Amino acid sequence: MATREPMNEKWITHYSSNHQILLVGEGDFSFSLSLANAFASASNICATSLDSYDDLKKYKNAASNLEKLSRLGATLLHRVNVATMKLHPVLANRKFDRIIFNFPHAGFKGKEDNPDMIGYRKHRDLVQHFFWNARRMLRVDGEIHVNHKTGPPYCLWNLKELADASFLALIQCVDFNIEDYPGYRNKRGDGPNCDAPFRLGKSCTLKFGVCPRAEKAAKATRRPMQPTSGFNYPQRNLVVNHIPSNHGWPPTIPSGNQFSEVLDRNLLLVRKYGRDSNGVETNRGRILRL
Ligand SMILES: C[S@@+](CC[C@H](N)C(=O)[O-])C[C@H]1O[C@@H](n2cnc3c(N)ncnc32)[C@H](O)[C@@H]1O
Repeated sequence: MATREPMNEKWITHYSSNHQILLVGEGDFSFSLSLANAFASASNICATSLDSYDDLKKYKNAASNLEKLSRLGATLLHRVNVATMKLHPVLANRKFDRIIFNFPHAGFKGKEDNPDMIGYRKHRDLVQHFFWNARRMLRVDGEIHVNHKTGPPYCLWNLKELADASFLALIQCVDFNIEDYPGYRNKRGDGPNCDAPFRLGKSCTLKFGVCPRAEKAAKATRRPMQPTSGFNYPQRNLVVNHIPSNHGWPPTIPSGNQFSEVLDRNLLLVRKYGRDSNGVETNRGRILRL
């Protein structure tokens, strides 16, 4: 009986042509293409962006990179939000060996080097929700990789702590060298210079894996089983009642001791905000519906 030749396994840094790889938050898709070129195939690659296909016109090379990826057999998805991706119709039933988010950043207003802006909670929220979703999309022994700058203010995001909240353990932290990924062009992704690169400086690849013992211990001690920080996706928050029209995040607390509910459709939960009987602002963060 004829036996099928195993496909020649090809590697680029931490990634094998035998891995099922999910890339999220892609810019112009040049990182995905760099992996695909190294494998001479993209049939094991699912590459996604938050941007719609039309929005990707902001990157000069996105269309041609997508075209090449498509020819190599990649699955390409747009409008994929890392905060909800495990519910995405194409991704919901898939598991991956590697899930990669290169240089997560929730966007900015004003000067990028303004420390107040960069240290903003929304970046941490983004990564926390990414971890929470990605953790559920991993195969056994799968890994989540985040490429991240190591200097301040980025180190203040404390990814290890965020991972811990999703029962993920830091396995390894290795230097990130852009030369290892021929063709990759890192992108700012937001603002008028979105197609320009940002200065990489010292960056590293942080590798996280599932920590079942931590999850088991958390269940035993009834530690909360979902992200607990604020949510920073105001455009997706639907006000159910009482929240004034300028609802952003955090929502404006109403006067009086009434409570307001915010339905976060991404996270499928409702939280209550308001004042207690002494008029003190409270964030009960009560999950009413999952
Ligand atoms: C600094 S850019 C990096 C882009 C690209 N990963 C790279 O390395 O060139 C940050 C990226 O995070 C993406 N992003 C921000 N919020 C996101 C979210 N909620 N879900 C998915 N991607 C998101 C942006 O669309 C942008 O592409």
